[in-house]
Formats: sequence, structure tokens, C-alpha cells
Amino acid sequence: MSKPLNIGLVGYGFMGRTHSNAYRKVNNFFELEYHPVLKAVCARDQAKCQAFADTWGYESTETDWRKLVERKDIDAIDICTPNNLHKDIALAAAANGKMILCEKPLSMNTAEGEEMAAAVEKAGVANTVWYNYRRVPAVTLAKQIIDSGRLGKIFHYRANFLQDWTISADLPQGGAALWRLDAAVAGSGVTGDLLAHCIDTALWLNGGISTVNAMTETFIKERKHTLTGKVEKVSIDDACAFMCRFDNGSLGLFESTRYARGHKALYTLEINGENGSLKWDLHDLHRLQFFDYKDEGILRGWRSIHVSDSDHPYMKHWWVPGLQIGYEHTFVHQVADFLQSLSDKKPCSPTFRESIETQKVVDAVLGSAKSNLWSSV
Ligand SMILES: NC(=O)c1ccc[n+]([C@@H]2O[C@H](COP(=O)([O-])OP(=O)(O)OC[C@H]3O[C@@H](n4cnc5c(N)ncnc54)[C@H](O)[C@@H]3O)[C@@H](O)[C@H]2O)c1
Repeated sequence: MSKPLNIGLVGYGFMGRTHSNAYRKVNNFFELEYHPVLKAVCARDQAKCQAFADTWGYESTETDWRKLVERKDIDAIDICTPNNLHKDIALAAAANGKMILCEKPLSMNTAEGEEMAAAVEKAGVANTVWYNYRRVPAVTLAKQIIDSGRLGKIFHYRANFLQDWTISADLPQGGAALWRLDAAVAGSGVTGDLLAHCIDTALWLNGGISTVNAMTETFIKERKHTLTGKVEKVSIDDACAFMCRFDNGSLGLFESTRYARGHKALYTLEINGENGSLKWDLHDLHRLQFFDYKDEGILRGWRSIHVSDSDHPYMKHWWVPGLQIGYEHTFVHQVADFLQSLSDKKPCSPTFRESIETQKVVDAVLGSAKSNLWSSV
């Protein structure tokens, strides 16, 4: 009989749904010592919160996260709110001895991240940040190939995260639906939102970043603010491109925008080493492209690995070889890894402490874009 782990979820938006789905499915597919119990969901609107609880099977609701983190029947707090609330909820949860699963980006900036990491370490509570792309089986396989040394010395790392949903000048900013366009709530624009994913994956696959040189642009300078009803200055970066140097001597190129007409969520990454290269594309997420220079000359070429066999990362838990999985499964994997880490008494990467590294790069990128100079991370 597995042991219950009582979850208190804060925020029932996009991520609230992906996480709830993961909690419900994880024990059907992974053999684990613990099983999540959907104990309570918290959001400010009681009726909407209750409707969400009914749909997903939460036992109870709260309208104030401060009450939720104090509840004795909650073991772990899952933070799925906009970014400006992550720190306060995490500090209060840690002070109440709760484990914490926090959505990315960890915080609005490095300083907040440091406070959060110190708080969970002082409280001695398990913690993790939902950088779920690490847990796409093809990306995990890329990590295994890189760590085996098969690519040899790494020369280049490049990543893009392209969207197109903010091109209209009529789109307002701020409020419940558009908090991502308000830096007071989001911290920054595409840099802290989309590039944070690319940076986390890059640090994991290719090691630390030492210096960055960035440019950002805000294409639409003023938008109506949903909360004030007034036309106000837009405070976020709409697009960001940066180059960087990694500690291993390789060069990095990163680009993100919400103005790439035709792209909805195109996250791609590529890494080039002396003996081989790897490429991955979120739109074809079960495939990993691999070029191995050691292949026989006349047969040498990019191979497309369908990462769906039972010896591929995570895949033995799902269907039969050859059948693929999707986006939502990355969250199931993160819950499975978190629960397993409790049994193993080991940290579940990325922890709060590890995720500060991404915040440092984000801060350096924004600093460089402002100063027009290279920034040290
Ligand atoms: N890992 C990923 O791929 C990924 C994808 C999207 C979003 N995110 C992150 O997840 C977090 C949430 O994003 P989202 O897309 O789910 O946003 P969302 O707007 O869909 O949901 C946010 C939720 O927070 C709730 N909320 C706001 N203020 C609150 C308060 N004071 N008390 C309780 N609840 C409150 C809202 O009611 C809403 O339910 C953000 O940090 C975001 O960066 C991560």
C-alpha cells in the first residue's frame, strides 16, 4: 500500500490543469512508494475554484493561499500562480514545513530566488521547479548521449522559443489573462518566460554560462492595461536574442519572441560537437535527430530516433514500443521523479538552488540588453 502525499495546489490555470492531470495519472504508470492525494486547490474566486475541484477531484478548496499553507493536512504546496507570487507563497510554505513544487521561472529575479532557496534549505523541505522540458524522453536521451561523451568537444549550442500571439496592437496588457505582458507580475517578457526554459535545458545539457551579450525589443510600446483601463507603457521585452559563452568553451545563440508569425510554441535546440550533433524540436517532441561522424562515410547522415522504445528514458512506463507520448507526460514524469526522490531521500532536479542559475542568466541577459555591453553571469 503506497503512502499518501497530500497536495495543496495554488492556481488552477494552464499549469494547475497540467499538474492535476499528472497527479491523477502518475500511479497508474509508475510504481512508487507515494501517491499524491488532491487534498485542496486554492484560488481567489470560490465558485470557480469549486468548479475546478469538482472537475479534477480535489477534496476541498481555499480562497487564501496563506490559509492553505498553514493547513496541517497538506504535505506539499504546488505553486501554479503568476511569477510575482512565487516567492511569498514559497517562503510561507517553507516556514510551515511544507514541501514545495514551484512553477518556472523560480522567481522574478536572482535575489528572490536566493531567498527562496535559503528558505527551503533552512526548513529542510523537498523542493523542485517545473522545468518540464528536461523530462521529454528525447531531451533526456540527448542528456544521456552528451554525458556519455559521444559528441566529443562541444562547439555550439543554439535554442529558439518562438510564438506569435502578441502581434496585435489591440491586445491589452495585464490582468488575469494577460499577466505575462506586465513586468510587475511576470518579472520580464520572453526572457524570463520562454528563454528561461531554453536556459534551464542548456545549463543541464551543456553546463554553465559565463558571459552574455543580448538585445531585446518591445515592438508595441503602449497597450491598454486591463486593470486600470488606461493606455500604459509596455514594460516587458517582446523579443530577445542573446549570444553567450559556456564554461566548456562552446558558444551559445538563443532567440525568443512572441512576434514570429506562424509559430505557436516552436522550441528547438541543437548542439554541435566534434564527433556529432543533436537536434530536437518541440513540435516533433518524440524524435531526436542525431548525426554521428563515426558512422561509415557513405552511410553518414542525420538519423531520426523515434524515442519510444522501452529502453528509452521513461518510455517503459507507457505503451508498447513505437507508440509516442506528448506534452502532458512531461509533467507526469516530473511528479514521478519527485515522488521517487522522496523515497531515495535525494533532491529532485532542478531544485530551487539549481534554478537560481537560470535566474542569474536571465538577469545577466536583461542587464546586457539594457547596457549594450557583455554581462558576466
Ligand atoms: N512549465 C511550463 O511549461 C509552464 C507553462 C506555462 C506557465 N508556466 C508557469 O506557471 C505559472 C502559472 O502560469 P499559467 O500559465 O498556469 O497561468 P494562468 O494565468 O493560466 O493561471 C494562473 C492561476 O493563478 C491564480 N492566481 C492568481 N493570483 C492568485 C492568488 N493571489 N491566489 C491564488 N491563486 C491565484 C489564477 O486564478 C490562475 O488560476 C507561471 O509561473 C508560469 O510562468 C510554466
